[in-house]
Amino acid sequence: MRDVESRIEVLRRQIRYHNHRYYVLDDPVISDAEYDVLMRELRELEEAHPKLVTPDSPTQRVGAEPLDEFQRVRHVRPMLSLQDAFDEEELRDWLIRTSKLLPQGMDAEDLEFVVEPKIDGLTVVLTYEDGRLVLGATRGNGVEGEDVTQNLRTIRSLPLRIPVSTNGPPPTRLVVRGEVYMPIGAFREFNRRQEELGEKTFANPRNVAAGSVRQLDPRITASRPLDLFTYAVVNVDGRTIRTQWEALEYLSGLGFPTNPGNRLLDDLNAVVEYYNEWVERREALDYEIDGVVVKINDLDLQKTLGSVGNAPRGAVAYKFPGREAVTKLLDIQVNVGRTGTITPYALLEPVKLSGATIRQATLHNEDYIRERDIRKGDTVLIRRAGEVIPQVIRPLVELRTGDERPWHMPEVCPSCGEPIIRPEGEVAYYCVNTACPAQLGRRIEHFASRGGMEIEGLGGRIAQRLVSEGLLRDVADIYYLREEDLLPLEGFADKKVGNLMEAIEASKKRPLSRLITALGIHYVGSVVARLLAERYRSLEALMEAPQEEMEAIEGIGPRIAKSIREWSNRPRNRKVVEKLRRAGVRSIAHRRMPEEVAETKGPQPLEGLTFVITGTLSIPRREMTALIEGHGGRVTGSVSSRTDYLLAGANPGDRKYTHAQELGKPIISEEELREMIG
Ligand code: IVH
Repeated sequence: MRDVESRIEVLRRQIRYHNHRYYVLDDPVISDAEYDVLMRELRELEEAHPKLVTPDSPTQRVGAEPLDEFQRVRHVRPMLSLQDAFDEEELRDWLIRTSKLLPQGMDAEDLEFVVEPKIDGLTVVLTYEDGRLVLGATRGNGVEGEDVTQNLRTIRSLPLRIPVSTNGPPPTRLVVRGEVYMPIGAFREFNRRQEELGEKTFANPRNVAAGSVRQLDPRITASRPLDLFTYAVVNVDGRTIRTQWEALEYLSGLGFPTNPGNRLLDDLNAVVEYYNEWVERREALDYEIDGVVVKINDLDLQKTLGSVGNAPRGAVAYKFPGREAVTKLLDIQVNVGRTGTITPYALLEPVKLSGATIRQATLHNEDYIRERDIRKGDTVLIRRAGEVIPQVIRPLVELRTGDERPWHMPEVCPSCGEPIIRPEGEVAYYCVNTACPAQLGRRIEHFASRGGMEIEGLGGRIAQRLVSEGLLRDVADIYYLREEDLLPLEGFADKKVGNLMEAIEASKKRPLSRLITALGIHYVGSVVARLLAERYRSLEALMEAPQEEMEAIEGIGPRIAKSIREWSNRPRNRKVVEKLRRAGVRSIAHRRMPEEVAETKGPQPLEGLTFVITGTLSIPRREMTALIEGHGGRVTGSVSSRTDYLLAGANPGDRKYTHAQELGKPIISEEELREMIG
């Protein structure tokens, strides 16, 4: 018990500190996901030991004490917070719980819901008397807030006066709630300027918005572009508002900004659909939303339903999946790439992140792990934001138990057992054994990929399998596979083998540029391959070309030329090429083929490839589409079996991302696409 008590005290102290950083200083030092871990542990301990709950525990309160620098104001009605639902099941549970409390004769079917994007900003309460703004307050601790009227006056979309309208004069007294936010574009610009001035930058728009509203000097607030959405009428004299929808219409009728995405829906399935739509739309918005708020439309009914703790029963925040999560790092393993690069990655306890279940995350390289002191067994923060592959951000050191173990780069390659080396000045380690099965598997995968010889049915898994069965020792062996070698293998039925043999046969006719790409020579991608194919017409001619001659080709520098020369000189490679020639691969010896004639029209490196785009890129979607199409590719709207690549920018859409993952489609970054184009 003593232990529990002291743990509770530690947690409360930590949470109070973080509350202060977040609510008072607008300068949090941990992420929401990390904060949630602390809160969850405290809540669980308190639930298990209800006697230890105290009224001042952070679990019992919202927000923080108002700052002394501002006048304190008492709210007309205490400000509650919302219950959260993190997935569809929790949303449906909310409705089931709520329906049980409905008046006799009424059930869930009779309900209407207002759904609104949940703005991630700062709550404000605005009081108008005879149509004039007389008070603007922050939420504070929910009971008392801070008087920030002067600052709020600087927000341009906030009405200072409510005009006399066709409906008559404005109400004698009106109290409205809303959310102040900073648009994302303005936030970026603001941070950029701060950086230029050598001033502190902020983690997110919410923090700047909150900091700006709580400035002692309104001129500073005025210099920061803030905006507002209103979403509730707390109080209005001389008028009864019966539904939330009516409240929203009333507000916008008076000239208050309300969110154009608000909707009135009549069943929960429509709510779920609305949510899914916003999971995608969210990416394109110029302000941050962290979920949708679902409110029972009938306000009398909301009142009857009352509240649990400090949250009304009649509404729920249906939250978007977070971009950060906390989970356990079970083990660290390494991956061997096609060129022998050894990359460490984390095996994780499965965790939901941006809608997908994550089991692995990259750890980049040994230095990255060492600098952050990431250990096996650590509880870690992972993030998937701009980058496509989730990353381990850092360990939560305060949650260590003492059983965590530091990790060291293995001394030998996990695939072939040969020693690995770290070239001077590089962060990466390499396995330099060209016969390493893991590298060979990846080289074969690359050889058979779409941009290469395009052998359908010879993906990464099958390639590794055929290597470990001893059937493939180099890429040329593909052309010497016989049906009778494959048929005895488990999972290789007649039809599958037949299709694979046909695909292999068909690949012999690929143009020279594809063959050059397929060989995976260092620094030689599809664009360089095209330049070389145009100049040399056969692989044999290319392999004889002097370095200076290649360097004379526009677009080919000494590094590339040298790499090709070295590759061509290696006896092992010459043997492979000879094997390819004997197998009947056409572009080895000179013979001008119709495909190549077409190619000389100009580089079309993305020919035959279908892309789907998600997330924010450095250029508008339209331009990216034009760029891809200009290089022979196609762009479609959704991921399907016909998709070749998902091009993911910052904040990729969850649905496209997960779908591409499920279908095993490669997910590439803008940088990688540009590399493909050259
Ligand atoms: S209704 C009882 N509607 O989310 C509280 N809140 O925990 C009723 N928020 O900080 C809140 N957009 O300021 C409501 N359309 C919206 C909202 C919204 C953002 C904020 C709210 C509060 C938090 C609720």
